[in-house]
Amino acid sequence: MPEARAADPGTAAPDGPAREVTVVCPTPEATRALGEALGARLAGGDVVVLDGPLGAGKTTLTQGLARGLGVTSPVTSPTFVLARHQRPDPAGPRPDGPVLLHVDAYRVGDGLEWDDLDLDSDLDASVVVVEWGAGLAERLAPGLVRVTLRRPEGGDPASEPSEPSEPSEPVEPSEPSEPSEPSEPSEPVAPRTVHVRLEGRTRPLDLAALARAAAQEPPP
Ligand SMILES: Nc1ncnc2c1ncn2[C@@H]1O[C@H](COP(=O)(O)OP(=O)(O)O)[C@@H](O)[C@H]1O
Ligand SMILES: [Mg+2]
Repeated sequence: MPEARAADPGTAAPDGPAREVTVVCPTPEATRALGEALGARLAGGDVVVLDGPLGAGKTTLTQGLARGLGVTSPVTSPTFVLARHQRPDPAGPRPDGPVLLHVDAYRVGDGLEWDDLDLDSDLDASVVVVEWGAGLAERLAPGLVRVTLRRPEGGDPASEPSEPSEPSEPVEPSEPSEPSEPSEPSEPVAPRTVHVRLEGRTRPLDLAALARAAAQEPPP
């Protein structure tokens, strides 16, 4: 089992629970587990801003977040779709739960306006997850969960595991890949530092549980 370390316990307000936590996710599955724990704790109206460079793991985290919402349809990068609604599986754990609205704001400002994303649907019934959303998604709600993904600094690529730890997909020549989505180069497995911060959000969120999930530890 991969291990994740809580790099720090988060900064607690003097009279309240922690508002932020930093977790190291050594593998994509650890990043998904963190996302799943987050998604399981979200409700309609919640907004998650995902920040971090290309390949940082924003879509990977969203795959876990979808799991936590009971969404079973596959989550892929919405880069060419911009915004994608995905309903929870009626047979899943949250059949009446919020819809996942997965947005990619990368091109906003570059020939595309925020309003073009057409997010006017029922935000109260959705969990809105915005990749590249910093500076934009704040207008959606007074409070949000900001998740910043980074490769830890000082990481020596030579010390990273040399074998690809994602099981390689079997090649199926009979199924051509979708023409509209370029195949995304898969990054070698390497730790990601994931910083989760509650900003202006009044509803509490058990951040320690996110760190435990990323470490794949049982609850205390
Ligand atoms: N610890 C890790 N956490 C998340 N993704 C990782 C990790 N290590 C390697 N990866 C790989 O990095 C890539 C992240 O891609 P993606 O989630 O699409 O990034 P983004 O959406 O930020 O551009 C994937 O190929 C994933 O398998
Ligand atoms: Mg992405």
